[in-house]
Amino acid sequence: MPDVRIRIPGTPGEYPVMIESGLIFRITPCLKPFEGRKIAVITDEHVAPLYAGQITAAIEAAGAQPFLRILPAGETTKCMEQLTGIYDFLLDSGITRIDALLALGGGVIGDLTGYAAATYLRGVRFIQFPTTLLAQVDSSVGGKVAVNHPRGKNLLGAFYQPELVLIDTDTLRTLDQRQVGAGLGEVIKYGCILDAGLFRQIEACGSRENLAPHYPEIVARCIELKGQVVFEDPYDRGLRMILNFGHTLAHAIENAAGYGQVLHGEAVCIGMVAAAAWGTRLGITPPDTENHIRRVLTAYALPTEVPAGLTTEKLFPSLALDKKSVGKDIRVVCLEEIGRARTVPVPAAKLKAFMEQSS
Ligand SMILES: NC(=O)c1ccc[n+]([C@@H]2O[C@H](COP(=O)([O-])OP(=O)(O)OC[C@H]3O[C@@H](n4cnc5c(N)ncnc54)[C@H](O)[C@@H]3O)[C@@H](O)[C@H]2O)c1
Ligand SMILES: [Zn+2]
Repeated sequence: MPDVRIRIPGTPGEYPVMIESGLIFRITPCLKPFEGRKIAVITDEHVAPLYAGQITAAIEAAGAQPFLRILPAGETTKCMEQLTGIYDFLLDSGITRIDALLALGGGVIGDLTGYAAATYLRGVRFIQFPTTLLAQVDSSVGGKVAVNHPRGKNLLGAFYQPELVLIDTDTLRTLDQRQVGAGLGEVIKYGCILDAGLFRQIEACGSRENLAPHYPEIVARCIELKGQVVFEDPYDRGLRMILNFGHTLAHAIENAAGYGQVLHGEAVCIGMVAAAAWGTRLGITPPDTENHIRRVLTAYALPTEVPAGLTTEKLFPSLALDKKSVGKDIRVVCLEEIGRARTVPVPAAKLKAFMEQSS
């Protein structure tokens, strides 16, 4: 079983990430450290009927006491109102500082539960059981937890590490193919920025069906890569920015299309193709890279083109507002080759011209 350990400086030690197909049927030993404690399981209405029974049974088998809270599915759940509801539930359940919260679901549940764990009683024990590919390779590791504010996504948040991450890649079998694709976009991103070998493996598999049996090792590799980056830059001050490859245009697409129309990971796919083209124009990225990435994305039935109707005029304003911009320059992550990335400041007017030429 790939068992990755993540080390985050400034926190007490490191935490294990267990990754295995069928792990959900074998997690009782992992939960033994919680014997005699309470574990509040927070999940959503799609995930609960599929996996909550197995999780609560494993908690009981480990000698701990489960409490279950089921929330509506979707991004709107990541809000203050649901957070307040969780606090009430924790108080009603008599959860104290020696007890734990377990996030069972995608990134929405992980971010929300993590924020509750970071703040309830100034911090309680926290376990992640991510069930989407995006949550498994990205949001469940790195320690960023948050809820949305009506004025923007993730505006209220914290850095709070889980003490244990449990990943059963078989849970991806029940996940909607569109959500799987969105996660694959982030997986391909890790290959592009940090690991040419991973990129080649994905390319060689050539389809989602062929890749699926390799999920445990692929997810483990992505977590290792994210772990390395987070280890070197735990508070998002520099290196971590390369994880934003493809995200400059992606955020603008998500904004302009209206949130939820294009999934985040889908927008990242389109953004990676564009960033490769920009990198070539800047003389950083080899000329064949754009088409290389495009071919791999297409083999995995992932989008590569900006949706019709999203003109540069519509996209550019939110791109210029991106939090990665400094003065008149926009910081873009460019590939020096597949597997190696760096951040480059690009004048806003120049980037706009690149976008106009390609539309
Ligand atoms: N903290 C971080 O570092 C970080 C990084 C990236 C994204 N995020 C956040 O993650 C969130 C998106 O997460 P997401 O893409 O996982 O979306 P999500 O949590 O909304 O899950 C997507 C959908 O899949 C369903 N689902 C989840 N697991 C399932 C399974 N195994 N089988 C069937 N259905 C299942 C959910 O109920 C939901 O309807 C965003 O809020 C984003 O801001 C956080
Ligand atoms: Zn992303």
